[in-house]
Amino acid sequence: MTSPMLLDRNENQYGPSPACRHVLRSADLHELSLYSRDYTRGIKSELSSRLGRLLGIPEERILLSYGSEDMLKQVVHCYVHKGDTILLPRQSWWYYKSLAEEKDGHAVEYTLHERNGQFVYDADEIMALYDVHIPHVILIASPNNPTGNSIGPADLARIVTHCIESVVVLDEAYYGFSLDGNDHLRELLDVNHRLIVLRTFSKYYALAGLRIGYGCAGEGLSRLATFSARYLGFNRLSEKIALAALDDRAYYQETAKKIREDKQLYYEFFTECEGFTPFLSDANFILVRYPVHMRQTLEQGLTEHGITVKFLDDPALRDCMRITIGTREQDRYVLSVLDGLLSRHGRVRPALTTMRQ
Ligand SMILES: Cc1ncc(COP(=O)(O)O)c(C=O)c1O
Repeated sequence: MTSPMLLDRNENQYGPSPACRHVLRSADLHELSLYSRDYTRGIKSELSSRLGRLLGIPEERILLSYGSEDMLKQVVHCYVHKGDTILLPRQSWWYYKSLAEEKDGHAVEYTLHERNGQFVYDADEIMALYDVHIPHVILIASPNNPTGNSIGPADLARIVTHCIESVVVLDEAYYGFSLDGNDHLRELLDVNHRLIVLRTFSKYYALAGLRIGYGCAGEGLSRLATFSARYLGFNRLSEKIALAALDDRAYYQETAKKIREDKQLYYEFFTECEGFTPFLSDANFILVRYPVHMRQTLEQGLTEHGITVKFLDDPALRDCMRITIGTREQDRYVLSVLDGLLSRHGRVRPALTTMRQ
C-alpha cells in the first residue's frame, strides 16, 4: 500500500455516496450564479426543511452552519461573555477549551471516568458542578472525541432536566456510527428548551470537506437562531450534495457496519497486546492506551509505513493514541504493520487470523 493513510482526524475513509458524485457531475453552473430563493417557499433552505422533517423538529429550529465546529462557535459567541463559565469534559476535543479561551470564558472541567474498559460520564458530578457554578454553557459530546464513549440515555435525560438555566450543547458529531434513532432528540428538546444538539455531514456522511453541520435548537434559543440566520442563504451546491447523501441510506448503513466490524478487530488486537488498553468506542475511531516508552517506536514505525494516527498530547491522555477506523483494506494493512512492530518488541502476538483471510 503506497498512498499515505491519514487516520488521525476521524474522517470517514469510505468517502461519500456515489450519489454525491452524480450531483457534482450534473451541477447546473447557472444556478451557482444565483442566490437561493427558498425563502419564497416559506423555508430557509431545502436542506434545513428536509432535516426538520426527518428529525421531527420545526425547520426554523434547524440551524445550518459551516461544519458543526461553526455552530459550536456561534453558540459560545452568542451566550458566553468575559468571565462566564463553560462546563466541559476534561478529556475532550481540544477545540472546546480553545473556544472558552477565545471568549475569555472560565472553563470548568468535569471528568470522564475509566470503568470496565471504557470512559463514562458521571451525571452526578456534572449536576453537582452545575449547582455550584450555574455555567452559561455546558458541553457534552456523545460519542465523545477522543474517548469514543457515549453518554447513557438515562444520564443524559437527568442532566438535561436538571440543568435548565444553562445552554446545554450535546455534540453528536459522530452520530450514526452506532446509534441511528432520533427519538431521544425530540424528547430532550421538549424537556430543556435551552438545549442544542449538534450534528454534521463530516463524519458519518463522509463529507468533511463540504463543511456542513447543523444544530437542532430548543425553543428557548431564539437569540441563537437570529444570530445564525443567513439572509442570503447557504451554499446551494453543498446543500444538494448533502441531500443526496441523506437519500442513500443503504450506502451509509453498509459503510458504518464495516467500520463497526473493523473497530472490533482493532479492539481484539490491542486486547491481546501486552501493556495496551483499547477503550470501547461508539464512533469511527478507537482510543488505545500504550506503554508510554513505546511512543517513538510506534510513531516512527507507523510513519515509515505511511500511516498517520493521532498521538494525544492532552495531559489527561498523554499515553493514548487515537486511530481512525479506515476502509477494510486500510485496516488490514495497519493491523499487519502493528503486528510486525509489536512482535519485534516482544509484545504478545495477537491472533490475526480474521484479518489475514
Ligand atoms: C467532537 C467533535 N465535534 C465537532 C467536530 C467538528 O466537525 P465539523 O466541523 O467537521 O462538523 C469534530 C471534528 O473532529 C469533533 O471531533
